[in-house]
Amino acid sequence: MKKVMLVFGTRPEAIKMCPLILELKKQQSIQTVVVVSGQHREMLDQVLDVFGVKPDYNLSIMQPRQDLFDITGRVMDGMKRVLKQVKPDLVLVHGDTSTSFAASLSCFYLNIPVGHVEAGLRTNDINQPYPEEFNRRVISMISDIDFAPTEQAKINLVNEGKDESKIFITGNTAIDALKITVRDNYKNKELDWLDGDKLILLTAHRRENLGDPMRNMFRAIKRCLDEHTDIKVIYPIHLNPVIREIADEIFSDSSRIHIIEPLDVFDFHNMMNHSHIILTDSGGIQEEAPSLGVPVLVMRDQTERPEGVQAGTLKVVGTDETNIYNSFKLLLENDIEYKKMSCTQNPYGDGTASLKITNIIKEYLEA
Ligand code: UD1
Ligand code: UDP
Repeated sequence: MKKVMLVFGTRPEAIKMCPLILELKKQQSIQTVVVVSGQHREMLDQVLDVFGVKPDYNLSIMQPRQDLFDITGRVMDGMKRVLKQVKPDLVLVHGDTSTSFAASLSCFYLNIPVGHVEAGLRTNDINQPYPEEFNRRVISMISDIDFAPTEQAKINLVNEGKDESKIFITGNTAIDALKITVRDNYKNKELDWLDGDKLILLTAHRRENLGDPMRNMFRAIKRCLDEHTDIKVIYPIHLNPVIREIADEIFSDSSRIHIIEPLDVFDFHNMMNHSHIILTDSGGIQEEAPSLGVPVLVMRDQTERPEGVQAGTLKVVGTDETNIYNSFKLLLENDIEYKKMSCTQNPYGDGTASLKITNIIKEYLEA
């Protein structure tokens, strides 16, 4: 039996790899081995619990306030041991985290083929997002087979000289996850707190935004919140302590913002579905929101998800306080602008990406 190992370590990778794990585990010809780096601890466990996935190996690398050396070095050490022990026929990594980068490099050193899920995203600016654009470019140099979520992602890889016959457009497995989580009859006490006001959902975590860019974002949001009494903000905050410090500094006297612990993916997807507007610097949320028809102001200077911008759901508003304030205010006050951004579109697939990837892997392993 062929062994397929999946390696991941953060919340967004887990959300997008779990639907694939569930699909692969249905296959009798494949032995699925799940390795988590534990780059995230609590936020990873939340996802594994929702999908009922139990890892075979946990490298448990997370340290409070870890830096990029810590993550890369500790994943490499752990992967060397696990790869030598399991000897997989194929290792699947996801996207652009440092776990994925270090796991791919470990496979390269041991001459083990890598399959890249969510391959081909690019901003073409090595510093944005940081270090993710670097990570994903290096993974593309190593990977033997690529699962591109969109046509544009495939074009990016072909333009870099990759073999077109080994790049497959599959859609994004994030949409598979949404099909599992979103319910019409969803209820939550945070939704009761809204008491008729509109829900603004906020998330922010990017490494390059820690510091003044994040202060700018929060100040702009606070200004709009103070001026519009029919909105409330729910902010499930990332567990990075640096983010908590900035949020406390700016939002401490606002009664219409609830800063809450990270939501598990079931609650978060359903809260997205109930949102009026989402403000974020997240990558994954940019893929999920078009399927739900919720407008997103992307608080970054660049996005590697141009499909959502073309679909009309996403608007890139940068990290300047005035730009964010003006764009947020416009969306709150101008119905035409709001309607333009709130149509449901599916640029990232129809929720069958995991099945497509599984079928391609079966053929790849037979060849
Ligand atoms: C990581 C990824 C980023 C991805 C993001 C998703 C890298 C370099 N960064 O960034 O690509 O977009 O995850 O959220 O791979 N922490 C906890 N508990 C948790 C998770 C985090 O306490 O469950 C705290 C720890 O103090 C940790 C810090 O958050 O040191 C930062 O985590 P880290 O994974 O280094 O960076 P992220 O910003 O989460
Ligand atoms: N998400 C979640 N709980 C939260 C916030 C986000 O489950 O409290 C989900 C969200 O739906 C998306 C993913 O986490 O699928 C995005 O993770 P994050 O923004 O941390 O990382 P990125 O996508 O930017 O790498």
